[in-house]
Amino acid sequence: MQFFVDTADVTEIRELDALGLVDGVTTNPSLILKSGRDIMEVTKEICGIVDGPVSAEVTALDYDGMIREAAVLAKIAGNVCIKLPLTLEGLKACKALTSDGHMVNVTLCFSANQALLAAKAGATFISPFIGRIDDMGTDGMELIGEIRTIYDNYGFSTKILAASIRTVIHVKQSALIGADVATIPPGTLRALVKHPLTDKGLEAFLNDWAKTGQSIA
Ligand code: G3P
Repeated sequence: MQFFVDTADVTEIRELDALGLVDGVTTNPSLILKSGRDIMEVTKEICGIVDGPVSAEVTALDYDGMIREAAVLAKIAGNVCIKLPLTLEGLKACKALTSDGHMVNVTLCFSANQALLAAKAGATFISPFIGRIDDMGTDGMELIGEIRTIYDNYGFSTKILAASIRTVIHVKQSALIGADVATIPPGTLRALVKHPLTDKGLEAFLNDWAKTGQSIA
């Protein structure tokens, strides 16, 4: 499973990348706002840190506008992945951009039929929003499972990118159910390593080691 980091905070991206944990990055207009940075400038900086796909989202709602904005974003770096909304215009733009050799991440997916349409439009990634579905009182993970089944039934190569991940449980469940990628907020990504028995065990080992009076090297 690939890990993307869901942020436009370059300090976080640098730190996590140095740990070898980052296969790509996803941003969206809300994350750009949170960063306080210019979209072109921050996306360029992120693309310089991470070799994998860096999703940058268009804001136009019509096909022509999306294609225009995609051309601007794609010029930033070769690893920019154009993020398009799951609308009819977005799907049309997806078809055109992927036929042209661009990576496309179709975002704001909330149903299996939407994911089917994105795959038929040639999307590189489909982003089902798990956390936001959970917020509605339904099970976001069920959607990931449905999309996995549909894509496998027909051999679609579109990658399932589990998005709107809020917890470490979401990450585990996405991995179990077969999502190809999880895009994870930095804090949740760091939290994956935590276990109280690891801390307790390490403390006990270090205490015993101190009693040996030895040192390595
Ligand atoms: O990748 C999409 C993600 O940024 C949305 O997350 O927590 O705003 O639903 P959230």
